[in-house]
This record gives sequence, structure tokens and C-alpha cells, in this order.
Amino acid sequence: MPYITKPVSPPILMARVKTQLTLKESYDNLKELLQFREDMVNMIVHDLRNPISNILLVTEMLLTYPGLPAEKSHKNLNMILRGGQALRFLVDDLLLKAKSESNKLVLDCKNTDICKLCEAAIADLKEIAARKTVQLIAKTPAPIYRDINIDPMLFRRAIDNLLSNAIKFSPQDSTVTLFVDYIGEQGVRIRVADFGPGVSENLRQSIFEKYEIGTLMKGVSQTGLGLAFCKIVVEAHSGKISVTDNTPQGSIFTIEIDN
Ligand SMILES: Nc1ncnc2c1ncn2[C@@H]1O[C@H](COP(=O)(O)OP(=O)(O)OP(=O)(O)O)[C@@H](O)[C@H]1O
Ligand SMILES: [Mg+2]
Repeated sequence: MPYITKPVSPPILMARVKTQLTLKESYDNLKELLQFREDMVNMIVHDLRNPISNILLVTEMLLTYPGLPAEKSHKNLNMILRGGQALRFLVDDLLLKAKSESNKLVLDCKNTDICKLCEAAIADLKEIAARKTVQLIAKTPAPIYRDINIDPMLFRRAIDNLLSNAIKFSPQDSTVTLFVDYIGEQGVRIRVADFGPGVSENLRQSIFEKYEIGTLMKGVSQTGLGLAFCKIVVEAHSGKISVTDNTPQGSIFTIEIDN
């Protein structure tokens, strides 16, 4: 450094130190922004898998059983359409997030019918669950309606992630239940309960961190991105996410938003 080898006046030295600090701060901010973009892009790519699996499963079923009653075929074609729409939405989001200028999740909150949103999530994952003979059940306060002010797209992705984890870690012939309860004045509690292996107490914080996969399990893919995304979404809504034991076994993942 020139100011170490050559004598420099204190004001010049201070100015140089300030410049270095500003440069370091800009570099750190840029690094954070690039990391945020990369995380968001990876999480969206991760979420493309469910609609792709759904489209493949339902198309395969239509080809295997060409004589299905018209009503059933129509229902299946609708599922393919919804899968395609979900893919288009995620790809659009992917392109947006790849050039994001802010390293925070930007929410687009609307008054949302949370019961309808959860029932749609269950309907879209039914085929994937059926392949594992896992039954998906929704227990909601519908038709009692309450406006919940959330970003519906991001929230749906968080619920999809909890449900697909529950299906993935469930034993065959078991049940996954999604409970929706209104809490406080304007809040909601969502719980996803399964009868899988559960999460041991010492891992109940870390599994919500990026690339943390907790206990390694045979025969299932574990990359550790889904819950990290859920946590980012829930915390952006000033909410909480946690996991507890189910009885007699399994886990219950809980999201609470109470603004
Ligand atoms: N319902 C569940 N039952 C038991 N363990 C779970 C459950 N959900 C998550 N876990 C544990 O938490 C870990 C992290 O979950 P997370 O969804 O972040 O990643 P993943 O499911 O391993 O991979 P992916 O990135 O595909 O979602 C899992 O690997 C698993 O060990
Ligand atoms: Mg997961």
C-alpha cells in the first residue's frame, strides 16, 4: 500500500481509508445480492418439479386408459392445464428473480381465501400422493371465510413444499392432513401433519437453513432447499414456522401468521 511505504498526510490517509471502506461495502452488498438471486433461482427451479411430475403422471394416465369417462378425462386435462399454468408462472418468476435489484423478497399481498388456496394445493398434489398410496386430507374452517392478507403465489409455494415433504417422508398407506385454523383478529395457523419418521429435537432449527437435510434417509432425494424457502416466505410475512411431533409418530409443520 502506498500510504504505508510513503509518508502521507492524515487527511489524505483518512480519505483513502474511507474509499476502501466504501468499496468493501459495495462489494459485500453486490455479493449478497448475487447470492440472493442465486438462492431464489435455485428455489424456483426446485419448485418446478411438482407441476412437471403432475403433468407427466396425468398425461401417462390418459394414455394408459384411453377409454376413461368424459368427466374423468376432462378433470385430468384440467390438471394438465393447471400444471402448465403453474410452470409458466414459475418460469416468469425465474426470469424476474434472475435480474432482481433487491436482496429481499418483494411481497405482492392480497386478501386471500386461504381455505380455497389450501384445497387447491391438496387437489394438485393428489396424483403424486396417490402413487405412494398416501391420502391427502384438508380440514379447514370453510365455508367460514376470513380475509387473510398474504402473497398468494408465494404462500402457495410454501404450502406445496410442506405437503410434498410430508408425502415424500410418509410411509405407504398413510395419511397427510392439512389443518387450517383462524387465529387472533386476522391471522391463520396452517399445520401439515404426517406419520413419517418425524424430526429429532436437535434438528428442529437447522432443517430450516439452506442445504440442511437433517437425517439422511434412504431412497428419497434431499437437497435441503424447500424448508429454507418456506422460512423466507413466512418471515417475509412476519410469521413463524416450526416443527413438532405428531402422535403416535411423525411430524407437524406449523405456519402462523398473525398480523
Ligand atoms: N415431513 C417431514 N418428515 C420428516 N423429516 C422432514 C420432513 N420435512 C422435512 N424433513 C427433514 O428436513 C430436511 C430439509 O427439508 P427440505 O424440504 O428443506 O429439503 P429436502 O426435502 O431434503 O429437499 P428439497 O430441497 O427437495 O426440498 C429433509 O431432508 C428432512 O430430513
Ligand atoms: Mg423438501
